Amino acid sequence: MATIPGSAGLPLLGDRSYDFYKDPVKFMEKNISYYKNRNFIGRFLNKSTVFVGCNKTLKCLLTEEADKLDLGYKMFMGDIYGDNILFTDGEMNIYLRNPVCLYQTLKRMCIEVCLSLFLGIDFDTMTELTETIVSLTTTHWHGIISVPVNLKFPIGGASTFSKALDAKAKLLDIIQNKKTSTSRHFPKNIQEDLQESILTDKGLRERYMLEVQRMYPPFFGGRRVINKGNAVVFSTYATHRDPEVFDDPHQFQPQRWTEKNINDKDKLFCFGSGPRCCVGQKLVWCIIDTIIDEMLTKFKVSLIDEQDLTHKWLPVSRPKNEVLVQFTEKDNSQ
Ligand code: HEM
Repeated sequence: MATIPGSAGLPLLGDRSYDFYKDPVKFMEKNISYYKNRNFIGRFLNKSTVFVGCNKTLKCLLTEEADKLDLGYKMFMGDIYGDNILFTDGEMNIYLRNPVCLYQTLKRMCIEVCLSLFLGIDFDTMTELTETIVSLTTTHWHGIISVPVNLKFPIGGASTFSKALDAKAKLLDIIQNKKTSTSRHFPKNIQEDLQESILTDKGLRERYMLEVQRMYPPFFGGRRVINKGNAVVFSTYATHRDPEVFDDPHQFQPQRWTEKNINDKDKLFCFGSGPRCCVGQKLVWCIIDTIIDEMLTKFKVSLIDEQDLTHKWLPVSRPKNEVLVQFTEKDNSQ
């Protein structure tokens, strides 16, 4: 096996965690160029760590070598997130991959997607409003199986149908109130004719989405622990821009997915790879596909000029500042 350049340096004194957290992209690029190797050794979270930016190495690490590495996330995230599937190992990990009833989760997720997309409601901060909406929509929905009689009783009660009508009025109020602005966040400016093609041509849409994933993976990467003193940190960003696999890696070229990289979808690691890959991947794609359909059918989307599009990578990839987009309703009457 080839020697990996670099050194773990002295405990604590040689630690590079601060450099990494400050700017993980620059950290990887600087060291890859310095060591002339896409993998290198450094000290991270005070462990001797192999940083992986080579696409082939990462594939091997997450698949063939997966059972030799410990996920290690529990150690530094366990206190913050408590027990969850990402921290499990052995039988529990397999058990948790069995089918489950997703009804409640999906219901909640769809409400969140719709309300944040179309009404700009932020589920993290507007808890009271979101709870009210969820409760009103349930009451409204129950009206569908009620006897259509609008009855109110003197002691304050009302028929199910009557409650549904009240809920409808309150929901319409909230919608009117929130509908004032049409500016929403959106990652990229896509020209109008291209938007039409992305709406109708599924192949083209897939190529664009693969290229977006390649260039802007949502998570910067991941980490595995080898033993008490040694670890591996992998950079999805760097492996996706490995020139061994992707020519002109810093260029946005959707056509590469029908040309040289036609068989390289398994070299994208946005959702991990191998036995611990993301269980939500297909669900996420369904959601994204549905959102694209819905949005591009109803709106033309354009990025407001001259905004700061700088990217931020930790803890997840996102624009550093607010990026505003204008949504203009399409005339679909013809
Ligand atoms: C854009 C959205 C998402 C991205 C980019 C993403 C990415 C990832 C990645 C990279 C991993 C592997 C981490 C590693 O190997 O160290 C992972 C694991 C996981 N993801 Fe996702 N994920 C997304 C959405 C979801 C959703 C919607 C769900 C649930 C419905 C989900 C559930 C999980 C679970 C449970 C694991 C842990 C699996 C295990 O360790 O056995 N993810 N995800």
